[in-house]
Amino acid sequence: MIETIQWTEAGVVMIDQTKLPREETYVTCTDYTQVADAIRTMVIRGAPAIGVAAAMGVALGMQHAESPREFDEICATLASTRPTAVNLFWAIERMRRLYQELQGRPIPEIRAKLKTEAQQIRLEDIAINECIGKNGAALIPDGKTVLTHCNAGALATAGYGTALGVIRAAVAAGKKIDVFADETRPFLQGARLTVWELQRDDIPATLITDNMAGHFLHSGRIGCVVVGADRIAANGDVANKIGTYSVAVLAKENNVPFYVAAPISTLDQKLASGDEIPIEQRAAEEVTHLFGVQVAPLGTAVENPAFDVTPHRYVSAIVTERGVARPPYLESLRKLVS
Ligand code: MRU
Repeated sequence: MIETIQWTEAGVVMIDQTKLPREETYVTCTDYTQVADAIRTMVIRGAPAIGVAAAMGVALGMQHAESPREFDEICATLASTRPTAVNLFWAIERMRRLYQELQGRPIPEIRAKLKTEAQQIRLEDIAINECIGKNGAALIPDGKTVLTHCNAGALATAGYGTALGVIRAAVAAGKKIDVFADETRPFLQGARLTVWELQRDDIPATLITDNMAGHFLHSGRIGCVVVGADRIAANGDVANKIGTYSVAVLAKENNVPFYVAAPISTLDQKLASGDEIPIEQRAAEEVTHLFGVQVAPLGTAVENPAFDVTPHRYVSAIVTERGVARPPYLESLRKLVS
């Protein structure tokens, strides 16, 4: 089993996703600022995984702190790491609620309970993903290829995965599936992480570059697309890794179902539509350089949005741990959260 993130005696230990698949190394964080750096630099990435990391960061920070002012500072530092995935803010808020409930209790008790809560969030995430898998497995056609974008697997969560969880559950149910993984420029989550994960599970995986998706969606080989999500607005608009929108449009054009798999904590009912979702802009070097080697001319102007928003009209269904939502999403998602 892949251990994405764990609380150990030595600290919060994460598999270093910047190094995979060439090196399987682990980073140990002993201080909350190290957790914040790990999230920012994508040592750990994926919406549910950074939620777990933020919760552990809060608990870790409070092992050496006491006051509400210090608590707020820890939360603010962790919240400033990445803006798009709502799971990060959801997890920090859950830790804040617990901290507030514990006001007046002895500090050793507060520290112990924050640590237990963070570990609980990790365990719940794995269980939630298994439920998402069970709920989504029926949607996956037997004997076909499934296209996925980015990495929404065990590495993007505490374990099992959302989109890859659906694929894992379908395979466990006896379906014969092979996966096409978009390489997912510029961070290469598909090439480096999704293929690595699927190979470890003996699930047949084929790597394609992002610009090949349309060709294969038109070919009739792809039975459906399954992706994860970083934030889903009340109307069903989905923020996910940059390039997801293009895949969704191409899927609809070719009558291929486009499914999104995500936990309820990814739903942001406060936002009416995807237009309100903040999109992270990352460093130009991710685009101009490949593994430290400059591939674009010096001084090249660059845009590097890390996510895009897929309008809900392209989304065939949203699979959650509480069930499968279908259009109209305003209604079906509201029912799932209430
Ligand atoms: O920038 P990343 O790698 O954190 O982006 C990850 C994604 O876009 C995933 O598809 C999403 O977080 C869902 S992970 C279960």
